[in-house]
Amino acid sequence: MPASGTGAQRLRPIDWVDGPEGYLRLLDQTRLPGEEHYLRIDNVDALIDAIRRLATRGAPALGVAGAFGVVLAAQRLPAGDVPAAIAKIRSARPTAVNLAVGTDLAARALADGGLDAALSAAKKLRDDDILACAAMARRGADEIYRAVASDIRADHRPTGTGPRPVKLMTICNTGALAAVERGTALGVLSEVLRDGRLAHAYACETRPLLQGARLTAWELQRMGAPYDLIVDSAAASTMRRGYVDAVLAGADRIAANGDTANKIGTFALALAARYAGIPFYIVAPETTVDLHTASGDDIDIEDRGSYEIVSLAGVAIAPEGTTALNPAFDVTPADLITAIITERRTIRTGIGQRPDA
Ligand code: MRU
Repeated sequence: MPASGTGAQRLRPIDWVDGPEGYLRLLDQTRLPGEEHYLRIDNVDALIDAIRRLATRGAPALGVAGAFGVVLAAQRLPAGDVPAAIAKIRSARPTAVNLAVGTDLAARALADGGLDAALSAAKKLRDDDILACAAMARRGADEIYRAVASDIRADHRPTGTGPRPVKLMTICNTGALAAVERGTALGVLSEVLRDGRLAHAYACETRPLLQGARLTAWELQRMGAPYDLIVDSAAASTMRRGYVDAVLAGADRIAANGDTANKIGTFALALAARYAGIPFYIVAPETTVDLHTASGDDIDIEDRGSYEIVSLAGVAIAPEGTTALNPAFDVTPADLITAIITERRTIRTGIGQRPDA
């Protein structure tokens, strides 16, 4: 497989396979980076299991999974069982709003136009997500050049030194694996790489489930990006030492006031970025903006229990009987976010602009 910035084979971790009884094809992310194994998901229980054990994960991908889940429910279950199955898919994980958005969208289409309409709605969501990620990648890259890699002087005249390559930090996995193609924050990073302006990427390993080490490092390597993996606790000092020009993260839910839930550790990155005086961006599609949720305080944060913290790859790393607090996400207050970049807008929450304005 080619491993260059532009030549890496396109990744499609979630897709629908048409046929008399179509099914969902999912790349099992729990097996990465060791093995590229695709799951054939042809019933609702298998889908819910895949979502709960994070075989498929990341907010945009969850939205698409939820939409195709409605199709599976309508295809395979007696009509009377479909509403309960849809409700179960919708709530399989609580924090990423996209799961509910995708499920609701296909459920409405099913109610209005039947199975074919639900399938078309799910496919449209998949295709729209690809377009949104491409638009975010471009918008985000341009924003970074404007903010941190400027070869433009304060008086708007070029310095003549040419564009400066940028050093970017990210957390969790927000790449193609978390969407349909390319991804959100990591999509921006890949665009910077394509532009020939990525000096270096720093990926936080993202304890406890190591989405950064297992998934983001795998994607960075695949795209041929220069990168280092860092332990989460090295992020603040790496910024402070001047190794980073900007931090990019995705989002699982953006409240009406701009507060944003994302993988645990994101809030700490935003605090450190503020201290280091570097911009902190959230990159997410409009489907992640939840105007029904007033602020971050209203976001339901998934707690995934002790096991993921007290063990590593199945091996105990804490004394037997140790319990752990394991919030999978945290909330970054709007005023710590330089801007939220969607496919349509750049919302400057850091200076008080709100997503509902
Ligand atoms: O628990 P996960 O792996 O589903 O968490 C994913 C994240 O927090 C991502 O950063 C977020 O969904 C944005 S994905 C483009």
